Amino acid sequence: MTKTPTILTGIRANSELTLGNFLGALIPMVRLANQHSETAHINIFVPDLHSIISEVDGELQQNIIKPLKNYLAAGLSLNEHVHFYRQSHVPAHSELCWILNCVASMGDLNRMTQFKDKSEGKESVNVGIFDYPVLMAADILLYDAEYVPVGEDQFQHLELTRRIAEKFNKQYADIFTLPAEPKQQVAFMQVGEAIRIRDLQNPEKKMSKSSQSANSKIMLSDTPEQAKKKIMSATTDSVGKISFDMFNQPGISNLLQIDALVNNAPLQEIVSTWAGETHYGDLKQKVAEDVAVFLCDFQRKLATISDQEVLEQLKIGEEYANKIANAKLLEAQKAFHLR
Ligand code: TYM
Repeated sequence: MTKTPTILTGIRANSELTLGNFLGALIPMVRLANQHSETAHINIFVPDLHSIISEVDGELQQNIIKPLKNYLAAGLSLNEHVHFYRQSHVPAHSELCWILNCVASMGDLNRMTQFKDKSEGKESVNVGIFDYPVLMAADILLYDAEYVPVGEDQFQHLELTRRIAEKFNKQYADIFTLPAEPKQQVAFMQVGEAIRIRDLQNPEKKMSKSSQSANSKIMLSDTPEQAKKKIMSATTDSVGKISFDMFNQPGISNLLQIDALVNNAPLQEIVSTWAGETHYGDLKQKVAEDVAVFLCDFQRKLATISDQEVLEQLKIGEEYANKIANAKLLEAQKAFHLR
């Protein structure tokens, strides 16, 4: 009997999500889930143990529920194949992480750019920040997930997951399914190319929740007016023509990419609409309007989703996740003669 495949993704819960999270990961996952949930398991979880690598407070509980409400507001249809769960409610994640720590190499972890970014300039860095890609590998490998729809910034962690699984399978027991390579993930996500929404003020960088400057990121909770202002003040360039060229015109290209995604239109279509145009202000105006409409619509839907709805899904989802994860963990424990 062939096994039902699993499509899996996670979104951290530290704060409100940005438009980058939404367009880069959430929307593609909702589309895939709605396409495949008759024939595949759709695992959508909140990696709350990842959240505590940075400072958290009493808001965390509410912030764990919020990303899941966002999926529902973005149009995710629920059925018995769609599973919501919290990482810390499935203890096998931390248990497998420890086992994989004894397989992963320091050299590989030292190369992770997110670790370099997150630790840069800090006097003291906690071990969780260094080790979190191994926990991410456990998140994926416990469920034999082949497809893991994520934004481009997570591809290095996917590659690491593949390397850890390969090493484990070769040296201990052949028990893990390798997630597909990033190139195949992008093809599966049907997004044309990997999505990386840029920081509005410094488009060399990705739009990030943790950015200190409020104008650099659009939050899903921004009022349409706030979002418009941020787009109108986005950094552009002095080239003087509107074209898609992430290397030489990252700011303008970012606006074109955002406009395509909020309108659910092919990027090429948006780019050709602007071919030959030179007025950056007109482009900003159009993107600002489109993002404002998009946010209004999304926020209206979000207001209709209750915490209770999510809590009910978590109860069922965590029962399922514990069953699958414990079975895979047992295989890994046996491979190490722990059982
Ligand atoms: P996190 O919470 O930082 O981001 C959640 C998702 O949003 C995507 N993303 C972006 N996409 C495009 N442009 C951007 N500017 C942008 N910013 C964020 C991320 O790529 C991600 O898909 N380690 C993960 C969470 C995680 C996970 C997992 C994901 C933990 N375990 C297992 C998948 C599978 C993270 O910190 O994502």
